[in-house]
Amino acid sequence: MMSQSNKTNDFAYNEHLPVMVDEVIEYLSPKANEVFVDGTLGMGGHSIRILQKLGSKGLLVGIDRDEKSLAQATERLSDYSHQCHLVHQDFRFIDEVLLGLNIHKVDGILLDLGISSFQLDNPGRGFSLRQAGPLDMRMDQNAPISAYDLINSLSEKEIIAILKEFGEERWANRIARNIVAERSKQPIEYTDELTKIVLKAVPMKGKPQRIHPATRTFQAFRIAVNRELETLEVVIDKCISHLKSKGRLGIISFHSLEDRIVKNKFKMFERANLVRCLVKKPLRPTEEESTINPRARSARFRIIERI
Ligand SMILES: C[S@@+](CC[C@H](N)C(=O)[O-])C[C@H]1O[C@@H](n2cnc3c(N)ncnc32)[C@H](O)[C@@H]1O
Repeated sequence: MMSQSNKTNDFAYNEHLPVMVDEVIEYLSPKANEVFVDGTLGMGGHSIRILQKLGSKGLLVGIDRDEKSLAQATERLSDYSHQCHLVHQDFRFIDEVLLGLNIHKVDGILLDLGISSFQLDNPGRGFSLRQAGPLDMRMDQNAPISAYDLINSLSEKEIIAILKEFGEERWANRIARNIVAERSKQPIEYTDELTKIVLKAVPMKGKPQRIHPATRTFQAFRIAVNRELETLEVVIDKCISHLKSKGRLGIISFHSLEDRIVKNKFKMFERANLVRCLVKKPLRPTEEESTINPRARSARFRIIERI
């Protein structure tokens, strides 16, 4: 559906450093011969560490809905190819993936939500508000709807709803009004155009100090394009039904909307006596990790164990 001209970009991406990897290993505690799922394979950073613990008779199922990321991870995990199945799929279909591999229950599942540096740092993917690129934002490049489609075709009211619901954006009305005004002149095609529209819409005194004023708008459209929150709601239930007794599910989230869903779902399953929450409050990265890897700064890690 994307009808943009091609503003191509050469890119160099930073290596994606896995977030809170020591905590993931400590709490998910993978052991020799076990079966694990990494639902957000990315560059395989967490998977490598898990595979080392599973040993040659263990098995890791790696899922990613981004084919390019999957190809990168496949190369990176080539030494472990006999120990893993890497699958191009949305993790919301984890049950189909496991069924296809004839696996019913697993010892551990990891979801490290959001996007990787590989995706963020490629301006051609349209995730970054700091680099010009097409308004794409699809994790799965076969998906039919891009950010371009939403921004250029939704009503002002629908854009306001996206900005409020998925970005908690205080200036949603003004930003949506400006988007509609600009697109009436010509379609909004590039990330830098969207950034400028937001900068013009947000009053000086309302500009957030800690984050770029367009951060919430980009987050909101990315969540809408990839239907991230509804996918998360669905997958948690499925993960729990696929855990063995004492099997563990760990989820790393990067903003409060995701963390709220994880927290509420985990509490609900704890009240139903199906799981035990292993931490009362989400674990946070150490100062040291946040300094080395600023992307880790907002990470929150929650873990449950199946009863
Ligand atoms: C933060 S990165 C994971 C990085 C990975 N843990 C590593 O260490 O390299 C998130 C990855 O999950 C993928 N992803 C996000 N949502 C997904 C979903 N619903 N289904 C499958 N993959 C998803 C993204 O495409 C991205 O590659």
